[in-house]
Amino acid sequence: VDVLARYECPAITARRARRKEVSGVEQDPIVWERARGACVTDPDGNRFVDLTAGFGVASCGHGNPAVRAAVHAQVDRLVHGLGDAYPGRPRVELAEALARVLPGGLCQSIFASSGSEAVEAAIKCAVLATGRSRVVAFEDGYHGMSLGALPRSHYKPDFRQPFAGILPRIADFLRFGADLDGLRRTLREGEPVAALLVEPVQGRGGVNVAPPGWLRGLREACDEAGALLIFDEVMTGFGRGGELVLAGTAAADGVVPDLICLGKGLTSGFPLSACVGTERAMAGWGRSTGEAIHTSTFLGHPVGCAAALAVLALFERGGLLERGRELGGHMEGTLRALAERHPGRLSAPRGRGAIWGLTVSAAPGAPALCRCMLERGFLLIPAGRRGDALSFTPPLTTTRAQWDAAMQALEDCL
Ligand SMILES: Cc1ncc(COP(=O)(O)O)c(C=O)c1O
Repeated sequence: VDVLARYECPAITARRARRKEVSGVEQDPIVWERARGACVTDPDGNRFVDLTAGFGVASCGHGNPAVRAAVHAQVDRLVHGLGDAYPGRPRVELAEALARVLPGGLCQSIFASSGSEAVEAAIKCAVLATGRSRVVAFEDGYHGMSLGALPRSHYKPDFRQPFAGILPRIADFLRFGADLDGLRRTLREGEPVAALLVEPVQGRGGVNVAPPGWLRGLREACDEAGALLIFDEVMTGFGRGGELVLAGTAAADGVVPDLICLGKGLTSGFPLSACVGTERAMAGWGRSTGEAIHTSTFLGHPVGCAAALAVLALFERGGLLERGRELGGHMEGTLRALAERHPGRLSAPRGRGAIWGLTVSAAPGAPALCRCMLERGFLLIPAGRRGDALSFTPPLTTTRAQWDAAMQALEDCL
């Protein structure tokens, strides 16, 4: 960590000052050496249960054998293709598979490497489809740090402020879950809106669940305003929210967006993301006339696509969704019981599927609790604009014993 702090951008690694500031304890991150299932091992051989699944990524468990086998086989065949120009076979198969498993005509993909890039691709689609450039997003939403996604990430203003001078116009932010009449008014006022960008369950912003009927209201408001609806399911997708994606399910009022952004759990560990849209939403791009007006060197990376195909097979044939739902039900019950034992200190848990969070309103605060959990062998991170929430996004394969041990440790820390 000393070496990294010296040779990497200090804001990324040397977070000691910040950690000390918020928790009062001098602390370094642990270094990850190996990971299997829900467990991460550091270079000294200490094992930790990862209640974050590495930022909600390793849904199938770290180093899932089926995903590893697919990655190994692909590495032996073809590591790198020629981006948009000459596709590898896995990209063809994944584009087709996503069209098959996603609801409501979400059938055309733009592949990328990170969640932010998928969000940027969706914004480009909306701009082209509508000929407009105003994007409306929500308070406490998080869509990534790249320069196209950052102005739409309300969480946190501090992340945007130093770059305000070079950011494209900052999105209008509306209150998540706010009254729909006001929202409709905002969409009618001023410049016409290209897109509404929303997480059906806000992750990093503190695990906030859209109230029943609200997403349906967003759909109707978008239709009235001629704007596209973008679901950012980078966090909730691929089983995290209790469904393959929340789009089209009762958890999202049956609403299908015009565009959906996927990442994280899509590969359970390889940097690959996708923006998938309806034919209508993608039509604005027109047909390829030679040089692509949107691409990247690693677009549809063969190894990432092979990993995603293996992950999809685990959902379709390996019972992973059911496992995640069962874990999620257990998480909800145990977190509710914990919160009831600490009234005035812990809020009721919020969440869906296997993403849950709660607010910590008295000392020790969320960062200190995370440190205490680390010392007991559990990886946990704070969430929320003020860092006052605990967010739980463990691998869907986490066992009851691992989870129950985590709850016992949290009880001890409290
Ligand atoms: C909902 C959501 N969208 C987008 C992103 C950005 O993804 P990435 O960090 O891969 O760019 C994240 C990352 O946490 C996310 O949670």
